[in-house]
Amino acid sequence: MASNNDMQAAAQALREGQLVAFPTETVYGLGGDATNDEAVARVYAAKGRPSFNPLITHVPDAEAAFALGEFSADARKLAVAFWPGPLSLVVPRKANCPVSLLASAGLPSIAIRVPSHPMALEFLRAAERPVVAPSANPSGKISPTTAEHVRKHLKDKVAAVLDGGRCKVGVESTVVSCLGDGPKLLRHGGIPRAEIEKVLGHAVAVESHSARPHAPGQLLSHYAPHAELRLNADRPREGEAYLGFGPLHAHGPWTLSARGDLVEAAACLFRLLHEIDATGVSRIAVAPIPHHGLGDAINDRLLRAAAPRDTA
Ligand code: TXA
Ligand code: MG
Repeated sequence: MASNNDMQAAAQALREGQLVAFPTETVYGLGGDATNDEAVARVYAAKGRPSFNPLITHVPDAEAAFALGEFSADARKLAVAFWPGPLSLVVPRKANCPVSLLASAGLPSIAIRVPSHPMALEFLRAAERPVVAPSANPSGKISPTTAEHVRKHLKDKVAAVLDGGRCKVGVESTVVSCLGDGPKLLRHGGIPRAEIEKVLGHAVAVESHSARPHAPGQLLSHYAPHAELRLNADRPREGEAYLGFGPLHAHGPWTLSARGDLVEAAACLFRLLHEIDATGVSRIAVAPIPHHGLGDAINDRLLRAAAPRDTA
């Protein structure tokens, strides 16, 4: 692991699909190439999260953000006022958005931010691509505000830890969604709600996750395919498309991973569900997925997608 701040080596490692921890003004981030499905899957694996909560995509300037998402007038106002800085904006993904669907956990939206830490900006420019970065702590541990915190828990999982000293803000970015039904505050963070309201000129609704900090994904409207899912299926029945895994992939063109690799399976999960859905089939049978490593998160998401639909 590179221990010095060799920016070019870190950027190169990121482009090759490895993970790089880097400082931001809020907390240290565990960075992966946002356009590489497997790198994004490795971020979830390193975090040890039991579910796929969508990740924030980091870019070095607002122009790069505008290329990834559809920014409403309100979203633009907030971007201009607070970027670079501790604000993440959730906006609809652009049709040609190159960021992995896994980073959006299959949702049609994307969270984007431009951090203000000079080393974060230097790294993002050197990376020459958007970078997903959750806080660089294993699931359930507090967010890291020094490079030492990151090394303690994640040093075996990253190619480099860029050391930019202690994070000034020390809490995560404020998350605001701008999805057409007016701005909503999804997570309290580095920018106070009152400052956001001052810029917008009106109050924002709060749909905060903070009451359940370990389960933010629970409150999101989750991606579910139109087709009904049947899980733990050894083979398809009449009229079903089959999504295979490991040796159980011989029933049609779709497999999460023919070699039974859970990182590969996570990487293509949402993409394949979308693809199969697009054929118009009404039922998808899914092979059993092992319950270890990323298998827990994959099973979690499949169970939710298979659950009876509510209208919320
Ligand atoms: O300060 C921060 O934001 C840090 C640094 C590293 O930038 N990152 C961070 O990421 O806190 P993470 O993954 O720990 O938190 C991401 C938050 C979660 O609450 C997630 O639910 C929300 O952003 N989020 C991401 N994409 C979303 C989406 N499409 N819709 C709704 N919420 C989303
Ligand atoms: Mg976090």
